[in-house]
Amino acid sequence: MGKYVIAGNWKMNKTPAEATELIEAIKPLVKDATCDVVVGVPFVDLCAALEAVKGSNIGVAAQNCHWEKSGAYTGEISAEMLKAMGVGYVILGHSERRTYFGDTDVTVQKRMRAALDAGLTVILCVGEYLEQREQGVTGEVCAMQTKIALGGVSKEELARVIIAYEPVWAIGTGRTATAEQANEVCALIRETVAGLYDGDAAAAVTIQYGGSMNAANAAELLAQSDVDGGLIGGASLKPQDFATIVAAAK
Ligand code: PGA
Repeated sequence: MGKYVIAGNWKMNKTPAEATELIEAIKPLVKDATCDVVVGVPFVDLCAALEAVKGSNIGVAAQNCHWEKSGAYTGEISAEMLKAMGVGYVILGHSERRTYFGDTDVTVQKRMRAALDAGLTVILCVGEYLEQREQGVTGEVCAMQTKIALGGVSKEELARVIIAYEPVWAIGTGRTATAEQANEVCALIRETVAGLYDGDAAAAVTIQYGGSMNAANAAELLAQSDVDGGLIGGASLKPQDFATIVAAAK
């Protein structure tokens, strides 16, 4: 479909039965969406979610994947496994994975390679910590994360990459970036993509904002010239709020 993508990141919330219930509630509310709609669910909810979205306009994302196809990696899930079960998207490099689970720019790049090879669409998360913003290195941090993650990604493959700018200080804190701050960094990420590929690729790539986006602030954020959607945490667990955000993405 179009360039705008609204994706829910449910994080570690909802059992399979609850996932079905939440998707059933969301489905009718977003059926006329003019953007792509995705729900990012825990691994154990993927089966239920794939079943629940059948015949609807909602795509399903996993929240991580390993970089190897298979092997002795207890507790891990490969991109191939996700693809085989019918999952279309995977969120990679979320700041919670980077902060709590040791994900680095290098492991994110490896996961990106595996996900693209498996045929998945990637939602790549980048963003600065508060200290980095205060030190004035937001641009450098986001450009570096973007460049490393896209290392080895062809222009053709870039069509299956969505970039989510998520300032870490805005995630789950209720402290949203201003529309200007969000747009400024999304534009800078787009410039970075232009530098790696070309202007066409940069114009075509979807760049989301994420971090305390909600029903009240979504319209202003999504109206910005370089914000092409949202990655929504808390508000994606509330059907009406999520639907309001989807409706704001035009
Ligand atoms: P939040 O989370 O909307 O709850 O701030 C966003 C995210 O982590 O993707």
